[in-house]
Amino acid sequence: MVTTHTYDALVVGGGGAGMRAAIELSDRVRTAVISKLYPTRSHTGAAQGGVCAALGNTEEDHPEWHAFDTVKGGDYLVDQPAAILMCEEAVEAIYQLERWGLPFNRTPDGRIDQRRFGGHTANHGERPVRRACYAADRTGHMILQTLYQQCVKRDVRFFNEFYVLDLLRADDGRTAGVVAYELATGELHVFRAKAVVFATGGYGRIFRVTSNAHALTGDGPAVVWRRGIPLEDMEMFQFHPTGLARLGVLLSEAARGEGGIVLNRDGERFMERYAPTIKDLAPRDLVSRAIYQEIREGRGAGPNGDWVFLDISHLDPAVIEEKLPDITEFARIYLKVEPTVEPVPIQPTAHYAMGGIPTDVDGRVVVGADERVVPGLYAAGECACVSVHGANRLGTNSLLDLVVFGRRAGLSAAQDALEGSLAPLPEDPAGPTLAMLDAILTRTSGDNAADIRRELQDAMFDLAFVVRSETSLTKMREILGGLRERYARVAIGDRGSIYNTDLMEAVELGFLLDCAEALVVSALARTESRGAHYREDHPLRDDANWLKHTLATRREDGSVELDYKPVKMGPYVPMERKY
Ligand code: FUM
Repeated sequence: MVTTHTYDALVVGGGGAGMRAAIELSDRVRTAVISKLYPTRSHTGAAQGGVCAALGNTEEDHPEWHAFDTVKGGDYLVDQPAAILMCEEAVEAIYQLERWGLPFNRTPDGRIDQRRFGGHTANHGERPVRRACYAADRTGHMILQTLYQQCVKRDVRFFNEFYVLDLLRADDGRTAGVVAYELATGELHVFRAKAVVFATGGYGRIFRVTSNAHALTGDGPAVVWRRGIPLEDMEMFQFHPTGLARLGVLLSEAARGEGGIVLNRDGERFMERYAPTIKDLAPRDLVSRAIYQEIREGRGAGPNGDWVFLDISHLDPAVIEEKLPDITEFARIYLKVEPTVEPVPIQPTAHYAMGGIPTDVDGRVVVGADERVVPGLYAAGECACVSVHGANRLGTNSLLDLVVFGRRAGLSAAQDALEGSLAPLPEDPAGPTLAMLDAILTRTSGDNAADIRRELQDAMFDLAFVVRSETSLTKMREILGGLRERYARVAIGDRGSIYNTDLMEAVELGFLLDCAEALVVSALARTESRGAHYREDHPLRDDANWLKHTLATRREDGSVELDYKPVKMGPYVPMERKY
């Protein structure tokens, strides 16, 4: 049975960006949020250390300094007008969260406290600056709770544990709605709306070592990709330097913001060699690469020499207790290490997708080098690419991105919904989804989804992680071809309709394969090193040929076509990135 629902606007995803959009929408039009998780369990909750804005509460700061750092941090692949707008709107976005009751840490005189974070500097790189507003090391969690309360206050209708599996578009290209699978019953639902905002988060689960939760499988980018929308800058994936060794669980950069340092097996504070001015507070791409280099040159620790250490043992125990309680607990629970007295084994962990669904600054999805608007379709947060992070996001700019651009997407989608009409549904709107699910459910034997997923994650970690090359990426592309063939024969044990997580994990695996393919094909083509995309066979940035955004589109035959569009420049002229 397929149930049809009609709303003015839909938000797909109940994390920070989705709920921020829903707040604006529900003030204006009839809105539903469709989320595969309960909203307060969304991955925004895993962002720990802070959300930045140049409030200047503890020392001089300016939105313009913040914008400069964002552009330089992104290795000049950032669209500068979008970054400038984000940094200007950041200040009001934070005070809005404060008015909604977010329990920020405070200065002694009662203002929002601010801490240091990687790549955030005063006066264009002079010294680290305190720009990250924080709630201990649970800032993302507090943002989720705060936004959820505002949604509840507005009676936003949530469809929780509903997986959006298809985007519906009318023949004239207008967005008509989505198709969702209800986990509790196995039923399909068609949701019609005049505007749809995708806010589904990232896809870090393509890698073995990741800070991303099990649910981060790139559903939004893959669903729109399958409907002909290109994905932008997919090769730009961030590796956070301080994941717990082997597990990847995030240890916030706030640890270094509060004075923590990274050490190699000899106890050397090696970042002094790689970033002499801001050392351990260099941006993530630099620190992750430095760790890789230390390991490669034999200065890694552990039985396989493949990790280094994060040391906070010299910090005042009161600071650790008050400002870093969660991450110290993670080290104790998962590695049985006591961070107040000994260094914690860490390694880079796949953390954040800078690329995604291309949008303008109002969240409208745009396609092609000439940025044609897809009527009624919006995206915000990690699944979107505005692009304010370019080739490397600065820590704390993700939470900022989702509140600033979640709000903007919600406002413009509401306008669309107020002025527009419902687009006609395609014939048999749930048909393709039903056929996809039936193919998996009726197969009595075949390949195991968990095996394919593990092989994908292992290979992506070995071949497309912090350091890449033509050889490694070509091999990865071949592996992906084989995994796709096996995926076409994927079979599952559970054929029931009640909470069939087997089925959904098999579908999510298809999304992971799509995202991995877009990443690998885009990365193979980009024969330069920029931000998080480091090609050891092309170690230098090449502005003459590569100061442009990648657009990867899936062709009808399943192959990937690449196109490019110019970076929107502004006041900041590309220069060598030194810290
Ligand atoms: O390190 C962290 O606390 C992560 C923050 C972020 O990714 O912005």
